[in-house]
Amino acid sequence: MEQIIINGGHPLYGSISINGMKNAALPVICACILNEETCIIDNIPPVSDIETLLDLLASMGANVNRLTKNSVEINCKNLVPCTSSNELASKIRGSSYLLGAEFGRFARSSVPHPGGCSIGTRPLDLHMKAFEALGAHCYHKNGRLEVECENGRAVGNTIYFDKVSVGATANAILASVLADGMTVIDNAAREPHIVDLAVFLNACGANITGAGTSVIKVKGVEKLHGCRYSIIPDMIEAGTYMAAVAATGGKVTVRNIIPKHMEAISAKLEEAGATVIVGDDHITVESTGKLKGISINTQPYPGFATDMQPQFSAMLCFAEGTSDIVENIFNSRFQFMDELSKMGADIKVDSNHAVIRGGATLSGAPLICHDLRAGAAMVIAALATKDTSVIEGIDKIERGYYNIVGKLRELGADIQKKVSAADEQRYTATR
Ligand code: UD1
Repeated sequence: MEQIIINGGHPLYGSISINGMKNAALPVICACILNEETCIIDNIPPVSDIETLLDLLASMGANVNRLTKNSVEINCKNLVPCTSSNELASKIRGSSYLLGAEFGRFARSSVPHPGGCSIGTRPLDLHMKAFEALGAHCYHKNGRLEVECENGRAVGNTIYFDKVSVGATANAILASVLADGMTVIDNAAREPHIVDLAVFLNACGANITGAGTSVIKVKGVEKLHGCRYSIIPDMIEAGTYMAAVAATGGKVTVRNIIPKHMEAISAKLEEAGATVIVGDDHITVESTGKLKGISINTQPYPGFATDMQPQFSAMLCFAEGTSDIVENIFNSRFQFMDELSKMGADIKVDSNHAVIRGGATLSGAPLICHDLRAGAAMVIAALATKDTSVIEGIDKIERGYYNIVGKLRELGADIQKKVSAADEQRYTATR
């Protein structure tokens, strides 16, 4: 089993470059299914969720040509719909975007229930509601979700979401780009990755307006053409390193980012006592490591992202005073708090509300990653203690962070990745 071993207590200094955003790349890659021409996608993060999705498309007949570590050429002319393998699709949440993309091009789709982080119930009822509004019939069969449209082409309609959902908004866009007529998506998610999907599709000839607001209009077009497109930077990866330096102390610049996307994260770091200096495409965070408790209330964008809640919770264990964390998006996103308690943190959880009494001296511990962002939180907690911690389950971290060990080492952290003797033997035997 692979482990990350951290000897904490070292302030972080220097600068690192941020990769493209996983959660933007997933729907953009699926959007290539709508297109019979070739698209080149740049700035994709070389993380395991993206690799799984690319393998999935290739297994369905798409031509997937990895040009470099960060660029891929995709042609989906010969992709066969409804053939996604249970094994690959159920590994990642992003496979849910196959539903909208397959339905958008072929008027039918079949996808196993998607995987992803275990952070609470993740129903697909809003996705189904969107497909049904466009004329689809949706049902479950043999553990797969089936979506089909009897008249062979989706017809534009108004879709009102009762709740803001990133995934359902992206799927509604994918399903309506080639539909007959106009689709209006009301109470849409406003996340930067929704905007990225719309900008990519418009670059391919789609007609989408309003992305980034809560009303998105999609005027159906007959077909799309190829294009070359670069994915936006990952605000959550950037925010994770910013929270890490706030907790450990030091001064770090995160480069190749869009500071506008970081506003909620930057504001909360400043409130906690870090200094945040914003540049054109970079942000510098400076911290003495002496922070104060704050309140966090997770909300859809532009509110504070649920995907930053675990990292901030870890950071706030080292702050003086009390922090209140309210998790409004996912109902099981506090499981990782037990790991922080194992280190000596004083945390009380009641339903979706956690109270962290900071100031306790945390000690190193064997830590388990419950999910992707909880794994990042474990890393932050381990970096900020003056002790040694061993983190297991790091495949979860590698789903969304490229080279986290190398990047932190560049910043002066004492961190290494270790492969167990048994795994090393297995690798040697297969070489
Ligand atoms: C995406 C992100 C995830 C992030 C989340 C919220 C990807 C691959 N994942 O997940 O990292 O934490 O957005 O920013 O991009 N809901 C329903 N019915 C539905 C769909 C969602 O009730 O049909 C609920 C969910 O249970 C949750 C809320 O809506 O309470 C928001 O979920 P959603 O925005 O859809 O999250 P994902 O797209 O799954």
